[in-house]
Amino acid sequence: MTRTYEKGTTLFLENEDGEELFLIQSGAIHIYRNDENREIILAVLREGDFFGEMALLESGQVRSASARTIEKSVLCILKRRDFVEMLKVNPQITLKILETALTRLRKANEQILDLTLLDARARIVRTLLRLMEEHGRRKTDGIQIGLKLTHQQIADMSGTVRETVTKVMLDLQNSEYISVDKKVVLVRDPERLKQSAGL
Ligand code: CMP
Repeated sequence: MTRTYEKGTTLFLENEDGEELFLIQSGAIHIYRNDENREIILAVLREGDFFGEMALLESGQVRSASARTIEKSVLCILKRRDFVEMLKVNPQITLKILETALTRLRKANEQILDLTLLDARARIVRTLLRLMEEHGRRKTDGIQIGLKLTHQQIADMSGTVRETVTKVMLDLQNSEYISVDKKVVLVRDPERLKQSAGL
């Protein structure tokens, strides 16, 4: 079944029971956790990505995080039974799910280290570089991150606060490591940007 969702639609919340897997045909999704004070964005997923497999495959587990569209999105939805059936008959898909889960674990490990070891500026730079790797589009004058990003979202991805992001982003623009046009970031020189934060 395929469904279209408007921007800003909550698809499910953490701790809910989950019975469906989602495949992104177009659009973009935030995977996030929050308490009453703040939100942590764990991942930004795009066309070709899937999510919702954890509650389906880990027995007795609920949704590990919440999911929301950040653009108008077309999603293909698979019921648990159909998903499990598909895995049984198609080892290639099973391997692909496993590989993706391991990549996500590897990234999560890196993020734990970043949050423990890096200062706020370096965490913000690391977040921009990560987004560039995942969502970058090559342009003549650098690599554009193909997402509209608010300072609050960058703060929620880097474990900082909006005011710090505003300060650091201004500084990065003044030093010409990045430029920003209508919330879209262009990384002009990834190597210099990396070095500037001691990474
Ligand atoms: P599930 O726990 O069913 O619901 C939330 C989904 O978000 C989860 O399945 C995964 O598909 C996805 N997810 C959870 N944590 C991460 C992460 N760190 N990176 C990418 N995707 C994640």
